Amino acid sequence: MGGMANSTDTSTKTAPQASDETGRNANRSTTPGSEGFKEFIGTGWAEREEAIPPARAQAAFAAARRAKVSAAFGGIRLIIPAGDMKQRSNDTDYPYRAHSAFAHLTGWGSDSEPGAVLVLSPDGDGHTATVYFRERAGRDSEEFYANPAIGEFWIGARPSLAHVAADLAIETRGLADFEHVIDAVDTATLVLREADAAITDRVDHARIRFAAEQALSTNAADTPFSIEVGGDHEPDGELARVLSEHRLVKDEFEVGEMRAAIDATERGFTEVIAELPRITAEVRGERVIEGVFATRARLDGNDIGYRSIAAAGPHATILHWTRNDGAVVPGDLVLLDAGVELDTYYTADITRTFPVNGTFSPVQRQIYEAVLEAADAAFAVVRPGAVFRDVHAAAMGVIARKTAEWGFLPVSAEESLEPENQFHRRYMVHGTSHHLGLDVHDCAQARKSMYMDGVLEPGMVFTIEPGLYFQPDDLTVPAEFRGIGVRIEDDILVTEAGAENLSVRIPRTADEVEAWVAGATH
Ligand code: GLY
Ligand code: MN
Ligand code: MN
Repeated sequence: MGGMANSTDTSTKTAPQASDETGRNANRSTTPGSEGFKEFIGTGWAEREEAIPPARAQAAFAAARRAKVSAAFGGIRLIIPAGDMKQRSNDTDYPYRAHSAFAHLTGWGSDSEPGAVLVLSPDGDGHTATVYFRERAGRDSEEFYANPAIGEFWIGARPSLAHVAADLAIETRGLADFEHVIDAVDTATLVLREADAAITDRVDHARIRFAAEQALSTNAADTPFSIEVGGDHEPDGELARVLSEHRLVKDEFEVGEMRAAIDATERGFTEVIAELPRITAEVRGERVIEGVFATRARLDGNDIGYRSIAAAGPHATILHWTRNDGAVVPGDLVLLDAGVELDTYYTADITRTFPVNGTFSPVQRQIYEAVLEAADAAFAVVRPGAVFRDVHAAAMGVIARKTAEWGFLPVSAEESLEPENQFHRRYMVHGTSHHLGLDVHDCAQARKSMYMDGVLEPGMVFTIEPGLYFQPDDLTVPAEFRGIGVRIEDDILVTEAGAENLSVRIPRTADEVEAWVAGATH
């Protein structure tokens, strides 16, 4: 990045121009400021030919999702921002990703514009949906050539309002018009607070202003009203909750995306296995694993869906090992927990544990087969009408029984399973399942009654991911168990008939895994 201009302010409201000498990196700006230059660079460009696309496949599904939200919030204005760029350091930002609720309700994923906002405005019995986003500037603007954050000379072509309107089958307006939405905010207006702090702040202020004006106009200036800037404004929480709960059951488009994300993830895992000779040759072999998988994620999708866990040997006992800087040594196991996130943002979340040299040792196999039994027991209870927490309970029954059989528990398996005991959880402290979709831990704001205590319905997608982790310094287990961690994680779809393991094709029995690795190493 050559730093021709002085500004990297990514704010959609106040992006400074080249003439702003206080902007970041003004000290290395080389942008010519002469009128002659401005005239020259602003002219001589061919007319743009822009094909207006047909609506994308997801558009009709997103419209149906919006209709459901509309029905839940009749007469209430809803503001659902995509969120803006987030600074990493100085003038570099993290890769942009729109908020999942915005993506869910617009169908706009990795090609969405930072700072966009979806507004559902009450209209008759329902709502009108409008997406506001920063219109591209003309070639005669300084933004075009002198704004590294948003200028097309720097970041490439940006879509027109007409293009996005046709693509998403939704009304679009320039971000400047969002001012009218702020002007129309009343005390009933709701905003998805976590998506964009600046917009949330503006809505809070607008609600206070509206309430104050109401109070004044009714001669009741001392009437208290309960909105605080930076507070929690509980009705906004209701919006976040409903949007989260609406994502618990996936529609047909989403199930297709989950299958595609899992297919891409399978390719990534297979490519990692194929690279085992290079992985074992490097000092930081775990980084090779991370990099090989990340390459597949960028080739087939938007990115990895979460930081990959590439954990060899005793690192596999560290649940969120993402430093990934260890060596990969023959004789050890590798635990790889990774998922490809597609351009639509739907992500897989898969774990496989495999022996580096292609053969499980007897104790590695013993542990592996116990975890597999727990996974299969959990899968066996999945069907419409079952309760989410029963899936975890089934896996825990096996984990308690195995660790008791092996003599690790101070009580029997039955006693350990009593809520006041739970000694077996020392070897698996995490839960067995979480919903999966646009977020790896999807539907995070759903109520417990809909999530952990929720009844399974066709279209739900969640993980089953039991594991056993014996820390290197755990004196409750024999020495040969220490430093071994195994997790098997699959992505499960609840169907009308029961359940489908969407990731079953990725080798998961001990014999399948050995054959998979052998194919790459022999
Ligand atoms: N990769 C995070 C999880 O499995 O939940
Ligand atoms: Mn998971
Ligand atoms: Mn995982």
